[in-house]
Amino acid sequence: MNKFPHTFLWGAATSAHQVEGANIYNDWWQAEQRHALAEASGQACRHYELYAQDFDIARELNHNCHRFSIEWSRIEPQEGKFDTLAIEHYRKVITDLKTKGIEPVVTLLHFTNPVWFSQKGGWINFRLQKYFLRFVDKIVREYAAQVKFWITINEPLVYSSHAYLLGAWPPFGHSLFKTAKVTFNLAKVHIKAYRIMHKIYREKSLAKPMVSISANLQAFEVCQPTWKNKIAVYLRHKLYNLYFIEKLLAKKTLDYIGINYYGRNLADTGSWKIRHLLLDTCQSNHHPLRKNSLGWDIYPQGLYKLLIAVKKYNLPVLITENGICTQDDDLRWDYIREHLEELHKAISQGVEVLGYIYWSLMDNFEWDKGFSPRFGLVHIDYANQKRTIKASANKLAQVFKNSEI
Ligand code: GAL
Repeated sequence: MNKFPHTFLWGAATSAHQVEGANIYNDWWQAEQRHALAEASGQACRHYELYAQDFDIARELNHNCHRFSIEWSRIEPQEGKFDTLAIEHYRKVITDLKTKGIEPVVTLLHFTNPVWFSQKGGWINFRLQKYFLRFVDKIVREYAAQVKFWITINEPLVYSSHAYLLGAWPPFGHSLFKTAKVTFNLAKVHIKAYRIMHKIYREKSLAKPMVSISANLQAFEVCQPTWKNKIAVYLRHKLYNLYFIEKLLAKKTLDYIGINYYGRNLADTGSWKIRHLLLDTCQSNHHPLRKNSLGWDIYPQGLYKLLIAVKKYNLPVLITENGICTQDDDLRWDYIREHLEELHKAISQGVEVLGYIYWSLMDNFEWDKGFSPRFGLVHIDYANQKRTIKASANKLAQVFKNSEI
């Protein structure tokens, strides 16, 4: 039996737009109405109304923490107009979690922006950061007394690349220059937000909060061990995995490292051009692995390798996402079990890990992929919003109960 620390945080994550439903004031909703995306989020899981019922399920499954995001466009649907009902809603959400013995882990920006903010230029425009910082200031003042763990930005590089380079997410850009600019702006805004957040806790004489980002880390591996591939892997690891974290560490603005980990990226390129070095992956199914329903390689060892790679930063780590979309629930359990084993191995090698948060508590709206990928521990029947606990969720509940696997 592998035992985890007794203080371990065990839970699952969601994000507002993916589960709440009717998020009508953000840029995703707007793009969905224009049919710019494969599917529209619509009512999603109606979690905005059903959150208490969903947290009952989480409690039943022995979760002691829960990660969710506060939707900026609900709090500030129009520039400068704050919706007190929305502020009260999230207060109820946090209180409900606390009452159920579940520690909230709160994300402030998870891929969606208010329409008014994106119409002004969104994250490309350096001067607009002040609006996000005003939102952060307001929200953190409201909930500081009840919240210890914060994530300012979810996966900044995934956001900047999907929205500004790959053209997959609003505002559907195709520019390397804009991607770099947005990434840079997001790093800057995190640094400022971090300082504001700590200042609020000091002013209120509260114990220091734990503030981080959720960084999407990938296990980059070479297909054939050519020089091009080796250099591609080196560059990708430095740029996609470590660059953003190191930028924030240089300013001492991370209290822990939030890691989202899904799997392997098999680099295979025949070109020295930077775009190819950074993006080309093996298309020939060399070194085949089990895959999730979106075709991503399942690679539990990668989690261990990455945890060892970030050990040098001497900061605790929180796994803020790890999960699989699949219709095969046995595969889901294998995925979770194998990742927990690798996580335990890293802990036994001296990596300080605060907890493990599965993505996701329930099936939900998977961005440009729509509703078909099913990541949830809980199955959602979108026709009637019926929740059904999957077998993997019950197995995970046993791990959570005894903190051992
Ligand atoms: C992450 C993201 C989540 C979720 C998950 C599964 O990149 O933070 O919102 O979609 O991937 O793809």
